[in-house]
Order: sequence, then C-alpha cells, then structure tokens
Amino acid sequence: MGRFITIEGVEGSGKSTLAKRVAAEVSHLFPEVVLTREPGATAIGKEIRSLVLAEKEQGLTPLAELFLFAADRAQHLEEVVRPALSRGALVLCDRFVDSSYAYQGYGRGLDMTLLRDTMRLATGGLIADLVVLLDLDPEIGLDRARARESEDPGKWTRFEADTLEFHRRIRAGFLELARVEPTRFLVVDATLPPEDVAKRVTERIAAMGQA
Ligand code: TYD
Repeated sequence: MGRFITIEGVEGSGKSTLAKRVAAEVSHLFPEVVLTREPGATAIGKEIRSLVLAEKEQGLTPLAELFLFAADRAQHLEEVVRPALSRGALVLCDRFVDSSYAYQGYGRGLDMTLLRDTMRLATGGLIADLVVLLDLDPEIGLDRARARESEDPGKWTRFEADTLEFHRRIRAGFLELARVEPTRFLVVDATLPPEDVAKRVTERIAAMGQA
C-alpha cells in the first residue's frame, strides 16, 4: 500500500498550487506520485462536476448534492486512488471526504451521522493517512478566487457565489475536524509564502516515509 494524502481548505486557499509543488518535491521518496482531485478526476466525475458546480441555480437539494459528490468519490476511488495505492504510489488528492463534512455538513447543515454513513459507503472506509488543511480567512480566499476568475473566465462556481457566512462556517468546520484529529491533520497558515507552506508539508511527508 502507498500513502494517501488529502489537501483541504476554503476557496482560494492555494490547494492546487501546493499539490503541484509537493508532488515535485517528494517525487524522489516514492516509486510514483499521483496528483488527483475531487470532483472530476474521471470521465464520469467530469460529468458529475459540471452538474454539481454549474453556476446556474437548478434547485439541487443539499442531499442530492451530497450524493453527487459521493458518486464522484466512489468512481474516483475505484478507478484512480485504490489502484495507485496498491502500486505503492503516494496519492495527493485535492479535496476528499473532509470537504463533504465541511461544505455539506457545516455549510449546508446536513446531519453529521448521515454524512459519516454516506462517506463510509462511498469510500468503503478508506481514510487519508494525512489531511493537510490550508487555513485561510474566506474573505481573502474569495478575493483570490475572484481574481483568478477574471484571468480565466468560467471558473466561477455555485459554491464561490454563496455567502461569506457560508464560507465562514466551512472554515470553522474544517478547523473543528482538525481539532478532533490533531495527529492525522496538519493545519498550515495559507497566508504564508507558498514555498514555506510546501516546505512544512514535504517535511511532514518525508517524516512519514513509505508504507
Ligand atoms: P473546484 O473548482 O474544484 O474548487 P477548488 O479549486 O476550490 O477545489 O470546485 C470544487 C467545489 O466543490 C468547491 O467549492 C468545494 C465543493 N465540494 C463540496 O462541496 N463537497 C465535496 O465533497 C467536494 C469534494 C467539493
């Protein structure tokens, strides 16, 4: 078995930049590094992604939204993550179950027991060895996401368009998840320079070593 590391955070917290940097910096430590993300890493997942992120309001209910993320996850695990882990790879995944807990639970208000049950079904109980939480005030993150949108139109999603209050609940939710599992979570201040953020994460991964 390889190592499974997930990266979480509010919009604009720098997850994908971090993932790319870390993948390059730890490549010599593992036989293979797989960089992936949710939602949308598989062909089926791409279709789910466009449904669930569409900016147009189509009346998707919170429960239906949860099941779409869960379906994307089940497909992703089967097609990408489990095969890579059995090859001994380090899998770096941009968002995973903690995004569902934070967004659909703390954000949308779905019941946590229902969420845990749904996640267990979707993942078969697979959990990350390490969860990197890029902690950031969502006001700063949404500004960054807006700037990104003006450079690359079409990236704005239904989630980014939601209220600041919604994003504050998500940040608080992530921090609460990290508080409960302090050894499995690594919380990093996302206002630090990107190279410092990456350094903390690569040091932690190097200390974990291979499975
Ligand atoms: P994306 O454009 O990938 O955003 P980011 O670059 O911030 O990851 O959109 C993913 C959106 O989906 C993001 O707003 C968070 C949301 N999301 C959930 O609400 N629940 C989930 O389980 C996952 C994986 C993502």
